[in-house]
Amino acid sequence: MPENPITRRDLITTTARAAAVAAAVGPALAHAAPPPLVRPVAVSSMNGLGAVKVAVERMVAGAPPVDAAVAGVALPEADPDDVTVGYGGLPNEEGVVQLDAAVMDGVTMRAGAVAALERIKHPAQVALEVMRGTDRILLVGDGALRFARAHGFPEENLLTERARKIWLFWKENASQNDDWLPEPKEIDDPDIQWFIKKYGDVYFRPTGTIHLSACGEGGQLGCCTTTSGLFFKLPGRVGDSPLVGAGLYCDGDVGSAGGTGHGESNIIVAGAHTVVEFMRHGSSPEAACVATLERVVRNTKLDYLRDAKGRPKNNLLLYAVNRAGEVGGAAIWAGERCKYAVCRAGSEPRLFDCAYLFKKT
Ligand code: GLY
Repeated sequence: MPENPITRRDLITTTARAAAVAAAVGPALAHAAPPPLVRPVAVSSMNGLGAVKVAVERMVAGAPPVDAAVAGVALPEADPDDVTVGYGGLPNEEGVVQLDAAVMDGVTMRAGAVAALERIKHPAQVALEVMRGTDRILLVGDGALRFARAHGFPEENLLTERARKIWLFWKENASQNDDWLPEPKEIDDPDIQWFIKKYGDVYFRPTGTIHLSACGEGGQLGCCTTTSGLFFKLPGRVGDSPLVGAGLYCDGDVGSAGGTGHGESNIIVAGAHTVVEFMRHGSSPEAACVATLERVVRNTKLDYLRDAKGRPKNNLLLYAVNRAGEVGGAAIWAGERCKYAVCRAGSEPRLFDCAYLFKKT
């Protein structure tokens, strides 16, 4: 596990070494031998420092990894200061909070997901009910809400005052060719200043999300991804988070992975599934994330998605754990928010720097 930022040269070496090993011995078939007993471990996006701790505590207490993952992400889902997930999440372009979430269990190879779900604070818990309580995988919109109601989930307004003000500020400043006029004083509002300090004012639509992958003592795997999605998205837009294979994937024989960031980039390479496949063929979690991001770069072909050097403008971060409990994370772009959280049983959670492909100068 990296203690320091990893340079591009290190990455090329790591990836090349992994490829050479795989070429020499053939597919590593991670399930060929039973894994050694591992200390339960959870890896997540950097907003999951508290979530990974809860997930590990739950696994130590005997919960399956997928349940532990859902328990962990309940923290940011309920946190109004995390404007990328659950309650307090930033709304779509009409000011409505629509949430996406999915879970996957590597023990049973089952999954559940909800998309464009409104008024329910914990969409990951609804996704778990979809997995356990139906024969289906993905419920969307009103159908997902009715399902949540049937299971007794409380309905509430998820749009906090802070999120409403940030949305209105965006709406009034988005175009000079509509009827909405910017109010100059709004920029001084503490909630707008809070947002600009955290996310900047150049590109007002960053992405967030939490992914959490968990590995239990016997190498059992489970994962969860939950989000309010792209800030000010088109109503009904569904990102990568609830899509099995993109926003998350786990295979009980191999490992678990998921992503945060620009969802469309992740969907197009089936990112989480691709990470797991690289691990299946011998890559470390980190090298698997890097190799998948290199594929994203190769598949970013439209000019408006690329900078002057042909590199993706959007960032995507991937996180992974294998069934031996090794973890890794990588991003397309380096930056202060490119970290991942890890907790192992018996230790406090910590943030680590992601490996990365590019760094802005
Ligand atoms: N990765 C979150 C989203 O694009 O919605």
